[in-house]
Amino acid sequence: MAEIENSKLAIIGAGAVGTSIAYAAIIRGSAREVVISDVDAARVEAEMLDLAHGTLFTGSTSITGGDDLDIVIGAHVIVITAGAKQHAGQSRLDLASTNVDILRDLMPKLVARAPDAVYLLVTNPCDVMVVAAHEISGLPSGRVFGSGTVLDTSRLRWLLAERVGVSASSVHAMIVGEHGDSEFPLWSQASVGPVPILEWRTEDVPPLDLDELDRIANDVRNAAYRVIAGKGATNYAIGLSVARIAEAVLRDEGAVLPLSSMLTDYRGISGVALSIPSVVDARGISHVIDAPFSPSELELLTISAEAVRKTLRPLGF
Ligand code: 2OP
Repeated sequence: MAEIENSKLAIIGAGAVGTSIAYAAIIRGSAREVVISDVDAARVEAEMLDLAHGTLFTGSTSITGGDDLDIVIGAHVIVITAGAKQHAGQSRLDLASTNVDILRDLMPKLVARAPDAVYLLVTNPCDVMVVAAHEISGLPSGRVFGSGTVLDTSRLRWLLAERVGVSASSVHAMIVGEHGDSEFPLWSQASVGPVPILEWRTEDVPPLDLDELDRIANDVRNAAYRVIAGKGATNYAIGLSVARIAEAVLRDEGAVLPLSSMLTDYRGISGVALSIPSVVDARGISHVIDAPFSPSELELLTISAEAVRKTLRPLGF
């Protein structure tokens, strides 16, 4: 594993999500250089200045921004957040046609400037955007993938950690499938430390049961709706999630993360992007893991694939 020297992270879109990714990346020291691009020149300059004004208190990340896409030249990772955002009452899939149109225009321009970059799609509906970006760019599936259920997995691990009284990093559980309403936890593999999730108990912590696991999975599914109803958008947790994913590439980590990539005969599923535990290093996704699924989890994966496929069809993918 070899960390990328002078690592450069480009973020397209200076909205709440793009700027939160930049903020998280600067504080975490995810990249040596962070650039933000947005069609709104005044907005991106203001955001860039506001971020740069704090760099006395962070590591030595350089931060620049502007409306000229040439600033992505030389980027190792390009994060795409541009697009319409979800409003209260909308599902992620409702945004598909508007955001795919944006991608049709944007993707060729980016690939012309950064043909060797790893492309990380964050715009919703994330899985649909991954398929669109993959088809539009012609890049290999390992180089065009989505943040997928990394965020939902963090939500799940936080909820479980609160419930069982250990740190989120000691809860091993993943949300897979669509980054959206059909996502689901791989409960068959979930554990606290080495203890299967349903067997965990301590003096003060009663064991979980299947009904409670269902409720927790529902809370994760509804988490974004809840935040959007209260404040209009989700931004901080997605910012941290994407900074973390970018690091896995820029540090050539070989980390296992549930990322959304185009599947080819994965458990019989092809032509659609879904989040599956995947190994990420400097090349992007080096492989999608043949994770163990219970029969009911496999059924849920098929339902998730159909949900994404239904949105892709009218868009011509
Ligand atoms: C989220 O899950 C809305 O996809 C966004 O926070």
